[in-house]
Order: sequence, then structure tokens, then C-alpha cells
Amino acid sequence: MQKRSEEKLSELSMPAKKDRLKQLLRGKGKDISGGKSKTDEYSLPENLWRIDAIDSISEFQDKLKLMKDQNISDPFFRVNEGIINDRTVIDGKEFISYSSYNYVGLSGDPIVTEAVKKATDKYGTSVSASRMVTGEKPIHAELEKEIAEFIGVDDSIVFVGGHSTNVTTIGHLLGPNDLILHDSLAHDSIVQGALLSHARRIPFPHNDYEALENILKEQRMKYKKTLIAIEGVYSVDGDIPYLPKFIDIKKKYKTFLMIDEAHSIGVLGKTGRGIGEHFNINPKDVEIWMGTLSKSFASCGGYIAGSELFIKYLKYTAPGFMFSVGMSPANTAAALAALRTLKTDTNRMDKLRKNFKYFRNKAKTLGFNIGESNQTAVIPVIVGNSLKTMKMTNFLFEKGINVQPILYPAVAENAGRLRFFITSEHKENQMEYTLMQLQEGFKSI
Ligand SMILES: Cc1ncc(COP(=O)(O)O)c(C=O)c1O
Repeated sequence: MQKRSEEKLSELSMPAKKDRLKQLLRGKGKDISGGKSKTDEYSLPENLWRIDAIDSISEFQDKLKLMKDQNISDPFFRVNEGIINDRTVIDGKEFISYSSYNYVGLSGDPIVTEAVKKATDKYGTSVSASRMVTGEKPIHAELEKEIAEFIGVDDSIVFVGGHSTNVTTIGHLLGPNDLILHDSLAHDSIVQGALLSHARRIPFPHNDYEALENILKEQRMKYKKTLIAIEGVYSVDGDIPYLPKFIDIKKKYKTFLMIDEAHSIGVLGKTGRGIGEHFNINPKDVEIWMGTLSKSFASCGGYIAGSELFIKYLKYTAPGFMFSVGMSPANTAAALAALRTLKTDTNRMDKLRKNFKYFRNKAKTLGFNIGESNQTAVIPVIVGNSLKTMKMTNFLFEKGINVQPILYPAVAENAGRLRFFITSEHKENQMEYTLMQLQEGFKSI
């Protein structure tokens, strides 16, 4: 039989001629198929090359179908039509909202909004370059200086995303000969940073500093640098680590300590300075203070605060800073105005504390399982498996309450929960109504 490469083009029909030409062009003019067609040569199952057929995507599709079959409406990506504080508007209807971490109500506050307008008028909507080159604006340094002062360390650096702050900082600082020990409930951004670094990564049981110490006894001397990464408030359980013990351990085993304060800055401590203030420790005992600007600071982005030289090093070398655009004037101005407001208006902190104490105590009195949540604005109510949790979410939604579920695999399958973010803006009657409806929900789902 004549080989395809030997076929004369002139003898082929027009469509076959086109196909043959295309095939030859793909092979840069040479037939490299050895007589097989391209598709034969790379004969692979669809789940390896068709995007919608890859295993993770088709499993996702199955989950969507299951939800649809069970008649469960999707609680995600609901469109909130205005500012979210204690309330929100979805589909034209008002709800009591527990789904946003606008902890001290500063997103939507007129002072913050006005500062954003002014900064945008003055600097535009983007800094249009990395700060290292031409993106630097006076408000960047002002914000960084004030964050550092607020925490009680030398300096800070702001990044455009909270998640990317952790990824780039951890990924950049640690390397293959190093060790990262992080709380087993640490945020994804800490884990991603650790993976990027190629350091050995060992999670230790949640908040268990004794287990951490046991790992260090065995492992510390096998590695060069060691980082312990914990959070100020854990975002799924709403509990806090006993910081003084972690500081003792980090000193004894000569490691660095990093604290992600996403949910503790502007929440813990009498004046909102976070877990350091809460435990009255020396802020300089912690090398890496990390926080996000998207919660109490009413903006978007993250920061790392610490020693002057360390921060300068990050500014000149951290990939997620150097090779990324500077924080927008609007976001910078929002965080700066929010921080200044928080410092002067201590009433907000008092209201926040009063609210989360009220909600927690009442929830406990009513017999709800709120896990270990204590002294924080994150209060989970554990419902049960994913299906039950989704039903409870929808039950409350029908009663005018918007709260997000946290489901497996983020938590164990039997520990699905509703996560209530309490803010300074909530009113006692809203919280009381919510807890009563929750009680009704447990009876009827
Ligand atoms: C503990 C923790 N760290 C980091 C982040 C990432 O922050 P952002 O959402 O601002 O990127 C989050 C997000 O909520 C978080 O909960």
C-alpha cells in the first residue's frame, strides 16, 4: 500500500487535500507521523487533554449535578447589591448579613470612601507600574509606616493581595534545606507558600504547642532555617493560639515565628492591635507579622511587618512585590483611612467586642455547638454533614438571614458549619432573631 507521505496531493479530493496540507504544515513540512495520523500518535484518554473532561473538573460537575438533583440552591456567588455591614441586599431583598468580615464597619464608612475619592482624583485608578520602578506614591509609605507603628515594629510592606502576601513571602524566604511547621488549620495561602518554597513542610495538630515542641526536638537540627507559622484567629473555628508558649518555643529552638493576623488585627486587643496586644507580648519577639487589608482595614491586599532590614529585603527581592503592580491608590487610601479611624474611634472596637460576646454567650446558652470559638468575631455553629448544613443555610436564607456554610473538604464531613462573622454594626435584636431562627432550623431540617 502506498504510504500517505508518498501520496500525490494532486490526486486527492479537495477536502482531503486541505487536511493533508494542514498535517504537513503542523509537521513543519515533514511528515513525522511514520504513517500514523497525528491523533493516533498522541492517542491519550480525553481526561488528559480535554479541559472539561479532566478528573477534577468532571468531579466538580458531578457535585453540581448532585446539588441540582437534591433541589439545593447554590449559596455561592450570590450577588450583594450594595455595601455589606450588618445588612445586605440580595435580589432586591434585605437580609441580616453574617457573611462578610467587615468587622468594624469601615468598608462603606463615609470617611474611608471620601479618602478613596481624593486619592483617586489625585493619583488615578492604578499606579500602572511596580512600585520599584515608577509605581511608588506617598500614601504607600504612609500606610506602611502606620501599620508598623500600630503593631509596634520597625516597618512594613504592603502587597496587592492577602493570599499572595503569604505565598510570596514564605515561598521567597524559605528554601529546600529549610523546615516549615504550620498549624494543621493554617490558611491555604500559608500552605501554598510552603509548597512554593520546597522546604520540608510539617503541619502540627491545631494549637498544640506541645506537639509542635516534640516535632522540633526531633527535626530542628536536620534543617537550616525553620519557620513556625500560626494565625492570630483561626478563620474556620474562631479560636486563638496561646501565643506566649509559641514565643518560648521559637526562642528555645531558634526558629522564626510568623503570625497571620487576617482575622485578629482590628479585632483582638483592647485597641485592635491584634494578638500581640491581647497577650501583651513584645511585638519584636515575632519576626513576621502578617495581616490582610481586606477585613478590618476595609480594603484589599496584605502586609508583612517586622524589622527594618527584613522589610527592605522584601521590597527589593520578593517576587510578588517586585514583579507585581503596586497597590492601587484607592486600596491604599482605604486601608490608611480605615487604620486612622480605628486608632481614633475606639468605640468601634468596644461595640465589636460587645457583639461577639453577646452572640457567643447566647448561642452557648441555647445549646449550639460553637466549637472552641472564644473572644473572636468568627463564631461557627456546627450543624453536621454537608447536606444538613446546606439545608440550614437555605432555611435561614428564607428567613432573611445570609450566612455562609463551610463544608467538606474544608472541614470534616460531619463538622459542616455555618460561619458567623460578627461585626461592630450588628444589633442585639438582629442577633437574637438569628439565633431563634437557628433553633427553629434545627427542629425542622
Ligand atoms: C487567615 C487568612 N490569611 C490570608 C487570607 C487571604 O487574604 P485575602 O482574602 O485578603 O487575599 C485569608 C482570607 O480570608 C485568611 O483568612
